[in-house]
Amino acid sequence: EIIIQPTPEAACRYVAGRIASLLSAKPAAVLGLATGSTPVGVYRELIQLHQRGEADFSHAAAFNLDEYLGLAPEHPASYHHFMQENLFQHVNFNPGRTFIPSGQASDVSAACADYEAKIRAYNGIDLQLLGIGGDGHIGFNEPSSSLSSRTRLKTLTPRTREDNARFFSSPEEVPHHVLTMGVGTIMEAREIFLLAFGQGKADAIAASVEGPVTANVPASVLQFHPTAKIVIDEAAASRLQ
Ligand code: F6R
Repeated sequence: EIIIQPTPEAACRYVAGRIASLLSAKPAAVLGLATGSTPVGVYRELIQLHQRGEADFSHAAAFNLDEYLGLAPEHPASYHHFMQENLFQHVNFNPGRTFIPSGQASDVSAACADYEAKIRAYNGIDLQLLGIGGDGHIGFNEPSSSLSSRTRLKTLTPRTREDNARFFSSPEEVPHHVLTMGVGTIMEAREIFLLAFGQGKADAIAASVEGPVTANVPASVLQFHPTAKIVIDEAAASRLQ
């Protein structure tokens, strides 16, 4: 389902409202969360809903999509830090129920297997929030990622490292490797909301929604998801037929 909203703010309000409704229907809901610029407006809305008493996270759990390998949680560009700043420190999650892949794991494959096991132990993700890369990546599943992949180590493409350099003090500082939920992991979420805003995402959205399902555009696999919703602004929709 494609939902075109007039502005990113309206889109973020819509998605935050859906998350708040899920939390009232199922207080122990398991949320799948994303980082990057796109979901910041959703988190801002959720903080406001929480302050108004309309979103209670005290029984909920959260699993983030990904983390850079080699970054400590305190590093300003780490996704641990991002989540604290943009959401966790402003709402009432139980910190024991928020999970992000560890960028400092000494045994990366064991850490990835543990992450998958933890998601299963929580009975899977109820609602997964996604952004999309200009190349069609979801999580950090870059083009050519297996469509049935699980949480694992991935190498970022030069394009994604360039795109994300804005969060670091210099482009060389962007790590080459990340831990990310797999495409298969993401596809098991019971509900998915993919958000994209701006002209820069228009080609990736058109390829994902109207192109063939292909590992070269990982988000295209969402065509097979029974409930995935693509929530975009007019600019991101501008290349749709
Ligand atoms: C972030 C993530 C990535 C981003 C994507 C878009 O956790 O998994 O897939 O969603 O790179 O990033 P922004 O929103 O910064 O354009």
